[in-house]
Amino acid sequence: MADFHSIVILTGAGVSAESGVATFRGPGGLWEGHRVEDVCTPQALARDAELVHRFYDERRAKLAQVEPNAAHLALARLEAQWPGELLLVTQNVDDLHERAGSQRLLHMHGELKSALCAACGVRERWDAPLPPESECPNCGTPALRPDIVFFGEMPYQMERIEAALAQADLFVSIGTSGAVYPAAGFVQTARHRGAATLELNLDPSEGSIWFEESRMGPAGTLVPEWVEEVLSQSTQSSPISR
Ligand code: APR
Repeated sequence: MADFHSIVILTGAGVSAESGVATFRGPGGLWEGHRVEDVCTPQALARDAELVHRFYDERRAKLAQVEPNAAHLALARLEAQWPGELLLVTQNVDDLHERAGSQRLLHMHGELKSALCAACGVRERWDAPLPPESECPNCGTPALRPDIVFFGEMPYQMERIEAALAQADLFVSIGTSGAVYPAAGFVQTARHRGAATLELNLDPSEGSIWFEESRMGPAGTLVPEWVEEVLSQSTQSSPISR
């Protein structure tokens, strides 16, 4: 791998699979249990708030039963030891990257451990069940909802993501099917900018054709190997040009 300065990493459900967190598509995937329309759209929230809140309460409660895996820990190690720029963009709503130690991290699809007030827009850290019409601690309106980006809603912090992609000289996608935009288009943005592109995934994804290099296998194995490789090269090669 050449000398890199600025890395953007995108993760999806596959990075948490070995921790026991269900992925969305494929056999036994999360959406298999629920039709997407039933639980992850503004219409579903308006139609059956009880079901939607319960779906996310179940997933929030499950976080206490899972731990970060070797892939999460390796990405936190990379952040701690990387001499250049690094941004970890996750599509995941679990808290495993944080618990592994990642800090330069953003959740573009929201977080299970956050509640959003639909009235005043304030976010609250939330660990407990979130019944419909829970009162907002900030404005008092009974309008707290799961802080999850539903299909049809705008992902969070897109300007920050686009700015990071504009500077990146390496884009790495880990554990995502490339089925959902805008995340699935980040590889093309990175390529247009001339960045190197690497995919680490269990199976070929819908976006595999856009990557210069795709490595197939479990994230718990591939990610620590890749982190070791990129860190050892960054120490061996000349100091990264700033
Ligand atoms: N290691 C690496 N990759 C894995 C592993 C593993 N152990 N297990 C599964 N994968 C891969 C699968 O091959 C698949 O390509 O992870 C990907 C998971 O794909 P999805 O279930 O579609 O999850 P994701 O890509 O994160 O979905 C994107 O869609 O439903 C929305 O908002 C939701 O953020 C989610 C978005």
